[in-house]
Amino acid sequence: MSSYKIIDHEYDVVVLGAGGSGLRAAVGLSEAGLKTACVSKVFPTRSHTSAAQGGISAALGNMGEDDWRWHMYDTVKGADWLGDQDCIEYLCKEAPRAVLELEKYGVPFSRTEDGKIYQRPFGGMTKNYGNETVQRTCAAADRTGHAILHTLYGQALKHNTEFFIEYFALDLLMKNGECKGLIAWNLNDGTIHRFRSHITIIATGGYGKVYYSATSAHTCTGDGNAMVLRAGLPLQDMEFVQFHPTGIYGHGTLISEGVRGEGGYLVNSKGERFMERYAPKAKDLASRDVVSRSIAVEINEGRGVGKEKDHVHLHLDHLDQNVIEERLPGISESSRLFANVDVTKEPIPVVPTVHYNMGGIPTNYKAEVLTLNGSEKTVPGLMAIGEAACVSVHGANRLGSNSLIDLVVFGRAAAKRAAELVKPGLPHEEIPQSETDKCLERFDKLRNSSGSNSTAELRLSMQKTMQSKCAVFRTEKTLKEGINEIRKPYEGMDDLSVKDKSLIFNTDLVETLEFDNLIRQAITTMDSAYHRKESRGAHAREDYPKRDDSKYMQHTLSWCDGNKTKIDYRPVHRSTLTNEVQYFPPQERVY
Ligand code: FUM
Repeated sequence: MSSYKIIDHEYDVVVLGAGGSGLRAAVGLSEAGLKTACVSKVFPTRSHTSAAQGGISAALGNMGEDDWRWHMYDTVKGADWLGDQDCIEYLCKEAPRAVLELEKYGVPFSRTEDGKIYQRPFGGMTKNYGNETVQRTCAAADRTGHAILHTLYGQALKHNTEFFIEYFALDLLMKNGECKGLIAWNLNDGTIHRFRSHITIIATGGYGKVYYSATSAHTCTGDGNAMVLRAGLPLQDMEFVQFHPTGIYGHGTLISEGVRGEGGYLVNSKGERFMERYAPKAKDLASRDVVSRSIAVEINEGRGVGKEKDHVHLHLDHLDQNVIEERLPGISESSRLFANVDVTKEPIPVVPTVHYNMGGIPTNYKAEVLTLNGSEKTVPGLMAIGEAACVSVHGANRLGSNSLIDLVVFGRAAAKRAAELVKPGLPHEEIPQSETDKCLERFDKLRNSSGSNSTAELRLSMQKTMQSKCAVFRTEKTLKEGINEIRKPYEGMDDLSVKDKSLIFNTDLVETLEFDNLIRQAITTMDSAYHRKESRGAHAREDYPKRDDSKYMQHTLSWCDGNKTKIDYRPVHRSTLTNEVQYFPPQERVY
């Protein structure tokens, strides 16, 4: 028995995470009359969704003809045929409804002259199955995520979701393969809280901070993914890490794809608009993996700009000043702050920067977590949504603006499914004390560690290894070295030092718990990348430059126990959900 003060709670549903997907689920659950708690380590409106800039995709057709089937085709192609087409169909068909709901909730979208939601072009978004660019990305200037997050938080409060803010989740409570809730540490007063719930929804976002340079906030440590691994369940497609083409050089801050959507373009040191060579039709609006690889090739072949020739320039100085002021105010400010650049006069120095994890917790389109031990079975009581989940709608590469729509479509789907599965006020089962003891033993061990390695040193070593060995381009050699090197920071935890032993706002301990979460995901990412011997979407193997559909139209599954992993595969779904659309068979992917 531990000496910690434990406080018990009972809820119909607990949502872990208060970003776009967590809040959208919480609103739906509370609207359905379910007693709902939302547990978050940060204040909800500081969640990373607030950093999403360019917009949210939905075939509304406000700026000309559009069709959700074209959106589906683009997403299947963007995903390099690794997405599950039944799930993609659900995403694209439900997207217009989900965006109009956001409008009703009060999201302050930018408007067209006739008062409709403004939509801009984005990479890989086309009409007529790849033939022409379409304006499909609904925008609130270049602060769309911020607008959505604030609106959903207001709605969740209105519908009486109960918030537990600045609570750090430690582990899931599992019993006979079913999830019965979770345990969290209250950073404000040091108490431990045991939440019993019929359904636990993980909405903890991505794990970008395994890399050194990322657009992600420091809080993006994939805590829910690591909790799933510790519960003995697999993660899926972890090798697929998206590099956004335009992070500010030297800083990593995102410069939205919306800039290129509004007419911005990239140039190399010779002043060439090099994207014309790599993607003759879509040019700067090709999918992100294509643009990031093209920039990397320009730099590797000596055509980068700057003293070190290690980045490229993004021009928007030719755009109408009103467009910049009305539609791109946020990136103008970030460029001034972080690159000392006046975007109306000078180009922005940019470089591909880690931005998004396509991989995560495997789920079906109803947001139920899957076990996938030989067959697809759901884990009773457990759901996952948002970047933490791998539905899989993004497959090997996500299209820009398909992330915000994923958050709200599947946040909504989770709430609907939970309302079908749980009746308000059902009694809760007892959970064996051994689950709590196991969780607090790990917590206690980390808190009381008194070795010689600081968490900051171990984290830096992990980030540098991921940055150099699991980058835009990968080879057998880099990945093999990576597999060995990435285990060193994990082993370093045997001699860890946490100096602050207190329980109140102990950031040393928070960062250590986050590192323990990150390193498990770094290991599964590296090992999954090593085993996939083909190039597909964001996973570019120089030694296997072609996509291999005969062997790898399969999702990678990775289990991780300590630093040991098990890798397996499961086939991509090759069917659609309804007969309103046909399955799109694999094609060569050109833009
Ligand atoms: O470029 C952007 O505005 C990012 C959007 C996204 O990742 O979906």
